[in-house]
Amino acid sequence: MLKKKLLFTLFLLIFVSFRSVAVEGMWLPSLIQKNIEEMQMMGLELEALDLYNEDGASLKDAIVRFGRGCTGAFISPEGLLLTNHHCGYGVIQSHSSVENDYLTEGFWAASKDEELPNPGLTITLLVRMENVTARVLEVIDLNMNERERAIAVRDISHTIADEAKEDGRYEAMVNPFYYGNEYYLFVYNIYRDVRLVGAPPSSIGKFGGDVDNWMWPRHSGDFALFRVYADDENNPADYSTDNVPYQPAHFFPVSNRGLEKHDFTMVYGYPGRTQRYLTSDAVDFIIEKENPMGIDVRTRILQIYDQEMAKSDEVRIQYASKHAGVANAWKRWMGENRGLHRLDAVNVKLEQEKEFGQWVAANPLIAAPYDGLLQAFEKTYTEYHPYRFAIRLYGEAGRSIEIARFAEQFTRLVAMSQENNPNQERIDAEIERLKSATTIYFRNYNVDIDKQIMNEMIRKYIYHSDEMMPDIIFRILQRHGDNLDRYPENVFKRTMFKSSDEVMNFLENYRLRHHRRIERDPAFQFVNGLNSYIVSEIQPPQQKLESTLDSLYRLYNAGLQAMKPDYNFFPDANGTLRISYGRVEGSYPRDAVQFIPFTTGEGILEKAAQTEVEDYRISERLETLLANRRFDSFAHHDELVVNFIASNHTTGGNSGSPVIDGRGNLIGLNFDRSWESTMSDIMFDPEQCRNISVNSQYILWVISQYAGKDYLLDEMHVIME
Ligand code: ARG
Ligand code: GLU
Repeated sequence: MLKKKLLFTLFLLIFVSFRSVAVEGMWLPSLIQKNIEEMQMMGLELEALDLYNEDGASLKDAIVRFGRGCTGAFISPEGLLLTNHHCGYGVIQSHSSVENDYLTEGFWAASKDEELPNPGLTITLLVRMENVTARVLEVIDLNMNERERAIAVRDISHTIADEAKEDGRYEAMVNPFYYGNEYYLFVYNIYRDVRLVGAPPSSIGKFGGDVDNWMWPRHSGDFALFRVYADDENNPADYSTDNVPYQPAHFFPVSNRGLEKHDFTMVYGYPGRTQRYLTSDAVDFIIEKENPMGIDVRTRILQIYDQEMAKSDEVRIQYASKHAGVANAWKRWMGENRGLHRLDAVNVKLEQEKEFGQWVAANPLIAAPYDGLLQAFEKTYTEYHPYRFAIRLYGEAGRSIEIARFAEQFTRLVAMSQENNPNQERIDAEIERLKSATTIYFRNYNVDIDKQIMNEMIRKYIYHSDEMMPDIIFRILQRHGDNLDRYPENVFKRTMFKSSDEVMNFLENYRLRHHRRIERDPAFQFVNGLNSYIVSEIQPPQQKLESTLDSLYRLYNAGLQAMKPDYNFFPDANGTLRISYGRVEGSYPRDAVQFIPFTTGEGILEKAAQTEVEDYRISERLETLLANRRFDSFAHHDELVVNFIASNHTTGGNSGSPVIDGRGNLIGLNFDRSWESTMSDIMFDPEQCRNISVNSQYILWVISQYAGKDYLLDEMHVIME
């Protein structure tokens, strides 16, 4: 037996060194036993219980969900937390001013007293997870329709979660897996006192900006440091100077050993969403309709931003974050389409469906429930896609008009003012809320940009909608078809929502009857027109069809598992804790191009020499240190390794996830995927899909040598050999 295993290992080693061994999948930590043998073959030296253990400390205790959409990792016994610079960006920005520009200059707290609190920011720690499928399915009866089923599932999920909360000590929720074939309970501990400890300047943390985003080779120091605080019993507490550093049950030693090609890697974090099991119709729709529309609309928005940002520094700063947000998905969709084409994804899906259909036909007994399933998908999607498109068009074009979204915020005030017995206290509170929303809104608002956006978005609406055009757009087309500029011109001439003074003045002097003025405002009418179309014409059929699709996917997932009972299907990412694994490896993205898996300080200097690219600008200090090769003890093979790629299956939400070596040490921090991998949410390609991480040695170097903050290294456990 042992000999056989040894032979197999040997075989795998030989095999492995010739081709990529990237492993598709984002696995549930409590079920990692199923994968552990393969992981150990690839270089993991730990056992399943070291990764996830409910009865003792394990790696999972060092991993948190950071804020809403990112991951973070503990790297000291005193609650020091590592995440991405882009995950902490908003927080760093909130502490920045012209005098203390932490985004530009970086920030380092010299002692715990100088750490900066962040109201509203939380970190979430998983206490335990549990398969509760049996309890959920028990309340379901096969005669229920989809709506009844959904309600029954929701109710039992709440009951199960409530029990697990232990009187408010924990948060808890039940999530569906495999489209509702399985259900898991997740119990969380949420900490609310999270302070900023350190961040490199943006010229390091955001080096390469949008130019390099989603691309390899990359040279970004995309990390920031936080500290989690707790009460004196290590429990969550509101911010207080009495709080003490949280003591994690586990923290990651940080590796300064340096990486080699083919080293084992594991990414442990909170991936948001994948769509691995979509059918050919859905994939075709994404490629042919959804992505092209989104790309087209955003291309136009970015043109307007670029043009106006180039004219003024003020606008450039005001719209920097909006620009990054719009550009991020825009670029990802282009990569995704390219990747799906390259994989011939629709035909691959069609082949899989053919195989499924043949299996159903050949097994009339066990496959009876799946008879007609693929036809049902086709029929439902044909009905569903126009609605889906209308929603997406609204999301992209309609929601990009800032003034419309701002005016929409006044809906509640109108409703409150129209009540039979208006409650003055609540109205006053609402007015105060609107005042502060107004202040925040106008801080980063430019009327000229927004006017152009409205103009262009109406055109995009007209261009992209087929039979489903909102009435308000149709009326604009009818009235102003010969000169579409006229409508936005009118709106902006007459609306009060374009001016901070006007809105503030209006709020200061608000009387109940003034709600009419809001209702008559053309920006308010515009957004209402779009919204009421969505609410009355689109959402009802859309939601009905989506619930049909839910039931079809549930059946399809069950069918796929029945067809291949020995295959380890991974459940789509759904914002719960997962493990992905692979190894440090490059790829061949195009003819004659090879990706080496490491970038070095040399590459930063090469890029910085392109002085016309703003995103490549670095400080004199960084330039000097790199040019003089002041790598101290953080070099590997005499180079300062900045970023690396590896074959772990990751997605949005994995930002800030620790990348872990075979012994459980932190070797990097995940922050992106390469351009060639972005289709992996839908179809994974082991030859191409690579996640991008900051090398732990570069993180240590920036803290120690660039920022001179060695005291931060003192509380970490840095692995030298
Ligand atoms: N593409 C990465 C992720 O999806 C990084 C985004 C932030 N960086 C940027 N240049 N916009 O979120
Ligand atoms: N940057 C992404 C994030 O913020 C991770 C990149 C990806 O989508 O893989 O989560």
